[in-house]
Amino acid sequence: DRLALWGGRFAGGPSPALAALSKSTHFDFELAPYDIAGSQAHATALHAAGLLTDDEHESMLEALNTLADDVASGRFVAEDHDEDVHTALERGLIERAGAELGGKLRAGRSRNDQIATLVRLYLRDHAKTIAGMVLDLVDALIGQAQRHPRAPMPGRTHLQHAQPVLLSHHLLAYAWPLLRDVDRFIDWDVRASRSPYGSGALAGSSLGLDPQLVAQHLGFDGVVENSLDGTASRDVVAEFAFISAMIAVNLSRLSEDIVIWNTKEFGFVTLDDGYSTGSSIMPQKKNPDIAELARGKAGRVIGDLTGLLTTLKGLPLAYNRDLQEDKEPVFDQVNTLEVVLPAFAGMVATLTFHTDRMAAHAPQGFSLATDIAEWLVRQEVPFRVAHEVAGECVQVCETRGIELWDLSDDDLAQISPHLTPQVRDVLTVDGSIASRSGAGGTAPSRVAEQLDHASERVAEF
Ligand code: ARG
Repeated sequence: DRLALWGGRFAGGPSPALAALSKSTHFDFELAPYDIAGSQAHATALHAAGLLTDDEHESMLEALNTLADDVASGRFVAEDHDEDVHTALERGLIERAGAELGGKLRAGRSRNDQIATLVRLYLRDHAKTIAGMVLDLVDALIGQAQRHPRAPMPGRTHLQHAQPVLLSHHLLAYAWPLLRDVDRFIDWDVRASRSPYGSGALAGSSLGLDPQLVAQHLGFDGVVENSLDGTASRDVVAEFAFISAMIAVNLSRLSEDIVIWNTKEFGFVTLDDGYSTGSSIMPQKKNPDIAELARGKAGRVIGDLTGLLTTLKGLPLAYNRDLQEDKEPVFDQVNTLEVVLPAFAGMVATLTFHTDRMAAHAPQGFSLATDIAEWLVRQEVPFRVAHEVAGECVQVCETRGIELWDLSDDDLAQISPHLTPQVRDVLTVDGSIASRSGAGGTAPSRVAEQLDHASERVAEF
């Protein structure tokens, strides 16, 4: 088959069934601009090695530039008989440069080192895009925290009332993991920034080509140390897939809070009309679809990571065609995150918080019981005893259907002689929050510091 890149030793062309299975242009043509950039760098390496004359080099670059323009404008597209992006682009090059010159470009490279390089180029670009979108979401969280620096809310563990916290503290608790996700991309890029180009099919090149030159042209910091590793490993792709999955999981957890807060029973937030949806039958509905889609799509993004790792687990060295399956999972992650993140950031930025209602719920569920215990500790009561005493206060209140601050002086004295009326000083939400002034705590002074630090982190990127 003269249209394939490998027809020589075959008597006939591929069966239609094989061609249908083998074909990857429907997803890998997305890599065409990177493939052409790789070809331009490779042409320069061939020229430097004396394998292309000055004129040939110039004509080659010209033809590749035209091809790049034609790909960008949609004038050149993959055809049905093209096996993959590399095959399609070689056809495009030969159509523009002629078979004689066009046929010289493939020397010293393989689709195996090409594809390993192109995936890295694609992922490095999209890691920057996604990280920027994550930072926009962090900005939205910081903005909301700044708007509500001292608003209290119920802090929960096991989804049960635990201790009051500041809303700003809660929002920033979602910002930090996302900042770490951005850090993860930056750390990852150190490893992604090694070019496999020049590894050939598996063993390297015999043509005196300089992989360092290609790497420089493509914006890599260096080259891989081992051609087998360069063509066979996909840990860089899998690590990207993990970071993407982690981002999706972080969004999904915040989604869950937003969905709950948006219920009538909670009534903690109202969604902006532009970031919520209606029902086709129930006229009153205003649904948190962005949060639900983000939560739902976390499932597929995790699936992409799982699928990729499963593809990799049984592969011997070096290149195996299974590796063609590395691209769709990460492309899907990229497409998913790049459509979810802007909507999500918009939803967060435009949320209205009902701080009065949140404040009213902050002391519910005996969430100040720990404050009684810690007050007792400050009166030199051992914590074991203090915990018992505070627990008894809760029990008495629960039986009588009252709150901790409703206990009379007599009630208190009866529960324990240590409980003087002064204990009431800590039975307020503001007092409880202000007392949590240790590093990382929810006291307003600490959260103000934290807000500054988070803003500084965002400004650093
Ligand atoms: N399309 C393949 C991939 O995505 C690259 C081509 C390698 N093909 C081959 N027969 N060695 O991994």
